Amino acid sequence: MIKKAIILCGGTGSRMFPVTQSVNKQLLPVFDKPMFYYPLSLMMLCGVKEFVFIINKGQERNFRNTIGEENDLGIKIKYVIQNSPRGLPDAFLITRELIKNKSIAMILGDNFFYGNMLTPLIKDSFKKNKGCNIYLYPSNKPSAYGVVEFDKKNRIKRIIEKPKRTSSNLIITGLYVFDKKVSDYAKSLKPSKRGELEIVDLIRIYKNQNKLNTIKLGRGSAWMDVGNFKDLQSASNFIQNVEDRQSYKIGCIEEIALNNKWINKTQIKNRIKFCANTNYSKYLKNLISK
Ligand code: DAU
Repeated sequence: MIKKAIILCGGTGSRMFPVTQSVNKQLLPVFDKPMFYYPLSLMMLCGVKEFVFIINKGQERNFRNTIGEENDLGIKIKYVIQNSPRGLPDAFLITRELIKNKSIAMILGDNFFYGNMLTPLIKDSFKKNKGCNIYLYPSNKPSAYGVVEFDKKNRIKRIIEKPKRTSSNLIITGLYVFDKKVSDYAKSLKPSKRGELEIVDLIRIYKNQNKLNTIKLGRGSAWMDVGNFKDLQSASNFIQNVEDRQSYKIGCIEEIALNNKWINKTQIKNRIKFCANTNYSKYLKNLISK
């Protein structure tokens, strides 16, 4: 079972300059919540209570202010500074001490996942982890992401980062599970031509040992990398539309913690104060008025 997750919230954010010159993009709003609430909420839905946030230097106070009191959410957070964006696998080098011989999940702070059957699917995969799990999603823009190509017998043929051409539309989303060897394997990686340690190189190590598990997210689910203005806007509209129609919030971390019985009404009341006079706090009031 996976008990701990890394939320990757560093990077240059250069696709969103000048907005992200002074603030990590994962703090920007996606409709009515900070971007990182969405990956955080997915992990909480899957039962994860311990988090390691990887952030840029100078951003810890911003993250702490945005998340508020951890006890009010029933979770624990450690912050680790990444001095420069050396690539996704660098996360496992700078958190080596915190991983402590256990399997760990990693989710990118700019990835949005949504869907009815998603939580049971991911939760189930968290129980069965045999080395490395990756989660695939069909995309009409595979060249923007990591891609997995399969042969006719459904065996993995190629795992490649941002291919110019590919026969596959199955992209690797920003959610991963790795076993306790991940920091050692990350140490063996060499930077790619673009000067970064590549997550696909790490995944390939597990594939070569026959320890890679690929999980396809169904067509009834939504996935978006919201780390650019256009997709951030699309995700905001999507969330607003669903929330308006259903009167349920997507990614409400307090609601998830309450349903998981990690917190009670007292903590929700603290969060109502924290969120002041907003629709979000009205939603929290409704949760405990039933
Ligand atoms: O979104 C899914 C894609 O994410 C995958 O399909 C790709 O295989 C994977 O490489 C990654 O591609 P991106 O081009 O989207 O990666 P990006 O550089 O935007 O970084 C993703 C997140 O990780 C972003 O929130 C910033 C953060 N990050 C990135 C780097 C390179 C860090 O915290 N530290 C880093 O060193």
